[in-house]
Amino acid sequence: CFHTAISSAAMSEEVAPVVDAEYMAEIERARRDLRALIANKNCAPIMLRLAYVLGLMHAPIWHDAGTYDAKTKTGGPNGSIRFPEEYNHGANKGIKIAIDLVEPIKQKHPKITYADLYQVTHNHIYRLLRCILDSSVCPEEGRLPDAKKGASHLREVFYRMGLSDKDIVALSGGHTLGRARPERSGFDGAWTKDPLKFDNSYFVELLKGDSEGLLKLPTDKVLVEDPEFRRYVELYAKDEEAFFRDYAESHKKLSELGFTPP
Ligand code: HEM
Repeated sequence: CFHTAISSAAMSEEVAPVVDAEYMAEIERARRDLRALIANKNCAPIMLRLAYVLGLMHAPIWHDAGTYDAKTKTGGPNGSIRFPEEYNHGANKGIKIAIDLVEPIKQKHPKITYADLYQVTHNHIYRLLRCILDSSVCPEEGRLPDAKKGASHLREVFYRMGLSDKDIVALSGGHTLGRARPERSGFDGAWTKDPLKFDNSYFVELLKGDSEGLLKLPTDKVLVEDPEFRRYVELYAKDEEAFFRDYAESHKKLSELGFTPP
């Protein structure tokens, strides 16, 4: 792999980024190992087990990427979340479990960067077509969104990354999977009735308002209160294909923040 530097001035002299066939083949092998790992962890006859693992896998990707600052070109999906300095941030509670789960796969495929491996964990959505170098520079705490805040805060955080209103709504659809835990975020519960299944039910539930037993964070609720956000919620609730298409697009953007294609 001719590594692609993301954002670091020190790396700016690197040759044009190329992901060669060998690197892609290694990614495929790692993907298979990850799938096996998820299947194994799901052996326990508890239905939520898979959601748990899926959620766990999802978190490092988003939390690694979501620190990106387009202005200073710092943070972003560069694997820096593997360091205690970053995974010990308040918003990253529980993420160490996922980081540890992925570690044996890294040992088996040392060539793949952590930055890429974290993205591969969620790669049923799109194919990874880049190789991002690992960074050992952790962003300061406080760059990820605060679930207790409102629309202007969401915009501040996502615009800082260079993302749009549509990206905010589509990516919030990540909450279709997994659940919140009181010992981590202080919130409790899942957003949908089937947190194993990636579908548009998050948006359907949002439009229904408060429903028994399902979670809505303040930052989820603003998606129906703010008219600009709401039009996407309405679209995704009635057109699942539109959600899948926009989610894939936004997720690709998220996982390539700071990366300049060749
Ligand atoms: C979980 C907040 C965006 C995917 C959570 C939790 C909070 C939260 C508070 C519960 C954590 C816990 O208790 O363990 C937010 C806020 C966002 C946001 C404020 C701003 C829009 C996203 C995005 C994605 C995502 C963009 C993915 C694309 C998930 C997943 C879980 C989760 C999958 C479940 C984790 C598990 O089951 O362990 N989020 N999130 N979230 N979030 Fe988000």
